[in-house]
Amino acid sequence: MPAMRKIPVNLGDRSYAVRVGPGLLDELGRTVASLPHAGRAVVICDSNVAAIYAGTAQKSLAKARVAGEVLMFPAGEESKVLPVYCRLMDEVLGLTPPIDRNTVVVALGGGVTGDLAGFVAATALRGLRLIQCPTSLLADVDSSVGGKTGLDHPAGKNLIGAFHQPAAVLIDVNTLTTLDRRQLLSGLAECVKHAFIRDETLLDFIEARTADILACQTDTMAELIERNVRIKAAIVSADERESGVRAHLNFGHTIGHAIETSVGLGNITHGQAVALGMVAACKIAVTRGMAPPAALVRLEGALDSLGLATRENGLDARQLLPAMRHDKKARAGKLRFVLPTAIGEVAVVDDVTEAQINQAIRYISA
Ligand SMILES: NC(=O)c1ccc[n+]([C@@H]2O[C@H](COP(=O)([O-])OP(=O)(O)OC[C@H]3O[C@@H](n4cnc5c(N)ncnc54)[C@H](O)[C@@H]3O)[C@@H](O)[C@H]2O)c1
Ligand SMILES: [Zn+2]
Repeated sequence: MPAMRKIPVNLGDRSYAVRVGPGLLDELGRTVASLPHAGRAVVICDSNVAAIYAGTAQKSLAKARVAGEVLMFPAGEESKVLPVYCRLMDEVLGLTPPIDRNTVVVALGGGVTGDLAGFVAATALRGLRLIQCPTSLLADVDSSVGGKTGLDHPAGKNLIGAFHQPAAVLIDVNTLTTLDRRQLLSGLAECVKHAFIRDETLLDFIEARTADILACQTDTMAELIERNVRIKAAIVSADERESGVRAHLNFGHTIGHAIETSVGLGNITHGQAVALGMVAACKIAVTRGMAPPAALVRLEGALDSLGLATRENGLDARQLLPAMRHDKKARAGKLRFVLPTAIGEVAVVDDVTEAQINQAIRYISA
């Protein structure tokens, strides 16, 4: 068994463990087999990930004598929609012999796969057990933990969905070696977010180990992922359904989502948009006197050394504000912002003025 880190997610009778280490995809078969009354496995992955990792997953299942099939969909956010979900559901329900309540769904891939396969698991036969095997850094540190699954709708991103906690999460850090730089950076933005909302020592770590992180050095990545998963797990355990502190995870996302929408999904990664959104939110906090100016300097410095842009040409508040008001997290037209009060601490406020938003957007579009 390869060197492994284990992080518990405490959710009463729905508790599970997140395991992090190199080569853990080889443990998939044994992990499925260890679930009570486990039947066959249905592995769902996108076309890119299937080409690289489906074989390893299948080999591991075979070795543990678990019957398994691989279902595939085209890579990309455009696949996180009802028609692709319906097609997968047709395939899942058309398998012979038919699936039953003991069937285990495996989401092998990035956040799109986790959300889509997770929603299949949440809805097939009113809920099948799910194993998350994330392969992108964003999925490792964010989407694979916490149980949010779902699809996009023409009316907005992630508007269809369900909470469905996985039975296990297996994070094979070796998969990061095939991830392209843009996607790696996207995940790193969420790591900086976790540091800013909860843990200044994580920011120290990211700053001190930037070179090893960018080189995807195995131990460094395993430690980075473990530290991030611990933060996400603690927040999810405290507030599974986002009625309180889970909202802190939206730091940088109010403006970030609006940037994604206005620049056009696909033209900017989620993490890069969140990086810009965090700079804007931090600027608002400094303007309001809530955060010290040094927090903004440090945020921009960390993002900059990782290679995440802190400015984007041509952002326009007249376009971004309506997009922000449309976000599903805006309540009764009121914009809610998660603003830093110190490094490692945030507060939720709903009285940010349009003038403050305009100023922050001018700042990041400079
Ligand atoms: N459920 C949640 O809590 C949650 C949280 C954050 C984000 N999300 C969702 O996650 C999605 C974004 O996730 P993402 O950035 O991972 O996108 P993604 O799943 O599309 O992956 C990005 C790209 O990287 C490729 N890829 C993934 N792993 C690879 C690997 N190891 N080697 C080579 N290529 C690989 C994919 O094929 C894809 O082309 C969004 O839809 C977002 O809404 C969900
Ligand atoms: Zn995010």
